[in-house]
Amino acid sequence: MELKARDCLARICKFRNVETPTLMPVINPNLVVISPREMKERFGVEAIITNSYIIWKNKELKERALEIGLHKMLDFDGLIMTDSGTFQSYVYGDVEIKNEEIVKFQREIGSDIGTILDVFTEPDFSEEKVKEAIEETAKRGEEAKRYAGDMLLAGPIQGSIYPHLREYAAKLMSRIDFDYYPIGGVVPLMENYRYAEVVEAIIHAKMQLNPSKPVHLFGGGHPMFFPLAVLLGVDFFDSAAYVKYARDNRLLFPHGTRKLEELKYPPYYSPILEKYEIEEIKVMEEDERVKILAEHNLYISMEEIRRIKQAIHEESMWEYAENRAREHPLLLKAYRRLLRYSKWLEKFESISKKSAFFYTGEESMKRPIVLRLRRRIRRFKRDGPIITVPRPWSMHLDRIPKGARVKTPFGLIPLELEDIYPVQQSEFPWEEKLSLPERFEELSQKDFELLKIKSIADYQFGKGAGDALFNGEIRIIKSKNTGKIRNVIVDDEHVASLRAEDGFFTLRIGGAKRLHQRFKAPKLRVVVSHESSEFNRAGKNVFAKFVKDMDDALRPGDEVLVVDEDDNLLAVGRTLMNRLEALSFQRGMCVKVREGIANPKSSLLKNV
Ligand code: GUN
Repeated sequence: MELKARDCLARICKFRNVETPTLMPVINPNLVVISPREMKERFGVEAIITNSYIIWKNKELKERALEIGLHKMLDFDGLIMTDSGTFQSYVYGDVEIKNEEIVKFQREIGSDIGTILDVFTEPDFSEEKVKEAIEETAKRGEEAKRYAGDMLLAGPIQGSIYPHLREYAAKLMSRIDFDYYPIGGVVPLMENYRYAEVVEAIIHAKMQLNPSKPVHLFGGGHPMFFPLAVLLGVDFFDSAAYVKYARDNRLLFPHGTRKLEELKYPPYYSPILEKYEIEEIKVMEEDERVKILAEHNLYISMEEIRRIKQAIHEESMWEYAENRAREHPLLLKAYRRLLRYSKWLEKFESISKKSAFFYTGEESMKRPIVLRLRRRIRRFKRDGPIITVPRPWSMHLDRIPKGARVKTPFGLIPLELEDIYPVQQSEFPWEEKLSLPERFEELSQKDFELLKIKSIADYQFGKGAGDALFNGEIRIIKSKNTGKIRNVIVDDEHVASLRAEDGFFTLRIGGAKRLHQRFKAPKLRVVVSHESSEFNRAGKNVFAKFVKDMDDALRPGDEVLVVDEDDNLLAVGRTLMNRLEALSFQRGMCVKVREGIANPKSSLLKNV
């Protein structure tokens, strides 16, 4: 996987030629309702999944698949994943094939991603039975590795409703090093809207899996659950729902399902519903009706994926998932369950986002970014009058005493931190009245500005960073338009710029040197191998595969010091990853380097 964009664990990645998150529609080779070619051309489908056991069981299909290969047989040149028959054994009690044979068969017919014959763990299984199933699955996984050849191999994580057993499964399966990790055994949970337990299953699997591996939610075909699953790092879904629901005369919508007979005013646009009147569809011949409803269902599912990708791109995935979670009480229950893991999720949460923090309800205040703000703000215990200010604060700045503390929905925020994300970049459905103290000994403009730059540095880089960065003859350069601090020059060296968007610092090499000297390794560092160091010195980006180590306290979007294995400073830039990710990904960029030590961009000073 190559990470392209992210919002917490939600991510846009490249895997082979597919952009994730994505949906693999299920193709039943015995009964094709929408052809894979149409799926690609009309619906933007990049990957499909089919069942190798169904092909293997049918003499004609089996011979044809072996003769011309799966891609030709299905007339699809995108990514094809095959499942193994596990689901059939869950539905019918047993299958007539063994793991070894089905894995070899998947390879022989040219599947891109084959699946082992895992043991399905049902919700009412005892812990003991689930543990046995997991161990048997792992055994089959090891065996399958020997027969997979060039085919990518999927190793499902089972575990039923037991979080600790999901972790156990993920640990065992990780040791075998599969290319792809589906989360299995969740279909009966999804069918009964037991979304909170699915959330637990995903989280506990993710906690133990290598973050660079693709994760698939087996049978997670209803678009209602896509946002929460993606927010937890699911990359692939498969859907038989589009056709199953169509057969049952039901239409999928992002907020739920509607029966055709009950539908009078379609609540969402779909090009298929535009072509026909609802009443016309109701009286159609079955085959035609199933095809039209399946097309509608697939369109709606793919469109939900696009909306989610846009939310990741805008970095508003929390708002998106939160709003969607309000469509069904059991989704809201699942979202609340997810928030119990905010502390863990905070490791993956960026320092700031392109989109403002939108409050959608009490749950918003439990998001990881709020936990972080509240934790870090504790570093700034100080006195000063407590005030309230209507937004935008900037309208009232000349009346606010410098040194005040502002009462905000996030808690008490010292005025000097008013601009940092998400304090300033947030919207709440209520308004504060202006309330100021009668009399207050306020700081001078100069002292306040010094306090401000030092406090922001301490918030962003840790206590002591402000003193280390801004020590000497300090010149603060402000924007001519807004009057806001833009650049800080220390002893004639450009040390840092303050970003207007999120209120945090961008470091220059001069700033990086000061922090490097002040803080011992590993703090703020990304350590790169010797193969990479010359490139980074010259200002080139850091690729994840060259990262040897990284400060565990760094978060996506943080400013980082790039150093070699002897802790020599090479460059300064912004990381896209946290430590766990940086050490796991073998492809793609980890640090976007701004300046290398060999080519400091001091010329930028001309523009300040
Ligand atoms: N399809 C839906 N659930 C599962 C599962 O747990 N394992 C496999 N192999 N396929 C599935």
